[in-house]
Amino acid sequence: MAQICLSLTGRSIAENLSVLELYRGKVDLVELRADHLEASEMLHLRSFPERAGLPCILAVRRRKDGGSFEAGEGVRLVMMAKGLTHARMESEANFAYVELESDFHVPAIEEACRIFGTRIIRSYHDFEGSGIDRLDELWSEVAEEADEIPKLALACRGARDFATLLEWSRRLPDRDRILVGMGPYGFPSRVLANKTGSLLVYTSALAAGLPSAAPGHTDPSTLLDTYRFREIGPASEVYALGGGTAVTASLSPQLHNAAFSRAGLDAVFVPFPAEDAASFLASAEAAGAKGAAVTVPHKEGILPYLSSVSDEVASVGACNTILREEGGWRGFNTDVTGFELDILDFLGRKDLFGLRATVIGAGGAARAVLSVLSRLGAGALILNRTLAKARALAKTFDFTWAANDERAQQLVAEKYSDLIVNATSLGMEDGSPAEPFDWYEYQGHEAVYDIVYRPAETAFRRRAMAAGCRTRNGWGMLRHQSAAQFRIWTGREPPSSYLE
Ligand code: ATR
Repeated sequence: MAQICLSLTGRSIAENLSVLELYRGKVDLVELRADHLEASEMLHLRSFPERAGLPCILAVRRRKDGGSFEAGEGVRLVMMAKGLTHARMESEANFAYVELESDFHVPAIEEACRIFGTRIIRSYHDFEGSGIDRLDELWSEVAEEADEIPKLALACRGARDFATLLEWSRRLPDRDRILVGMGPYGFPSRVLANKTGSLLVYTSALAAGLPSAAPGHTDPSTLLDTYRFREIGPASEVYALGGGTAVTASLSPQLHNAAFSRAGLDAVFVPFPAEDAASFLASAEAAGAKGAAVTVPHKEGILPYLSSVSDEVASVGACNTILREEGGWRGFNTDVTGFELDILDFLGRKDLFGLRATVIGAGGAARAVLSVLSRLGAGALILNRTLAKARALAKTFDFTWAANDERAQQLVAEKYSDLIVNATSLGMEDGSPAEPFDWYEYQGHEAVYDIVYRPAETAFRRRAMAAGCRTRNGWGMLRHQSAAQFRIWTGREPPSSYLE
């Protein structure tokens, strides 16, 4: 099983040791990133493994490999020699591993490693992404010596690069190795290290405020608590979350993984950031995913790739849930169920007859919202930046439309102000902080619903609250729609953890 390695990027040995204390018991080994140390600290490298009390990797990473080390190779050599030298006392621990790059061959250092029992990690880093096109060639560069551990850390330019890396890893001989897909698109390679057969997964002490040691690192606690890393093995079932690069901030992995745990399922739910729906499916298929959640901005883009769809998907024209079926993927829309349950709860009603609502947005989420409003008997005004999309949706659902600007003030205030729903992704964490409805003057009686749930309070919601309106965010909708996804994927009743 892959081990969890904490990369320490503190400026002093003491700082690194005190950060390590926060993670003791959670991580299996540590990597001392000596390139982040202040010059005076480098003298004390040798004492680190003994003081850390865990197996340690020594890495002095150069700038070109994504590190901070700028002095020449001579100085780097001296640092490594200092770290790998004789112990002062025989019992003092040595570095268990040292990282040497594929273009760094110094016989004296390699000899010292063999004498002191330090294993060499032979690495190649690529930050541009073209490394994924040369996997066999790079492997032969790092895998030359049988007693070394080959390591490839390669940026993924998109979800297909991760798929390529994963599929290629299955053809590798059975030996210790470290494989990392870097950057947001490589995120699943970290959580699924047991699927790529990587000896370890690198993490950073993000919760302790240390800088990320490389693009795409998570905090060890996230791996353990959100993704149940210790329980994911090569045979675990994978469920994927497909969306843009912001999906790594989604709260749905917490919901689904907690539910899998509660239900005793050997399964994991992992974000697969993807540039488009087809690339998402390619990466999910490479990981053998049984099902997936689909979110912004792929809810409509996924439609052409589905072999069958539920009635909701057909009427809404957007899909947020897929299930592997014979010969393809079947699409569902649980946003509809999620919004229906939560809006009725918010408004304390059993239906919406007589209610007049304004919906901002005309994307996939807006379609789900509008279909619920229509089915429950409400009237609605659709406002959108792109007028043609608002018009098309208004036609579909027999609603009214207008441009999303101050010219609609009177129409909203006088006719469609019982309920205001933000169905755009504006305000979402890691996305645009803009408010989609900033021109509207609230009267204070409007019920205001924001489908965004992270952050809990967006600028849109705060302005409505300040005007005295009753508001709610999309957290309840997410919980209800996630529970419905669980039912679709597993055929079982969702555990109560979804709504607790
Ligand atoms: P989703 O599937 O989550 O609904 P989407 O289909 O990409 O995502 O739709 C995003 C919605 O947010 C659209 O209504 C979009 O307006 P356009 O139709 O004009 O693109 C809206 N949106 C996104 N960014 C916006 C911005 N900066 N200002 C106003 N509206 C925006």
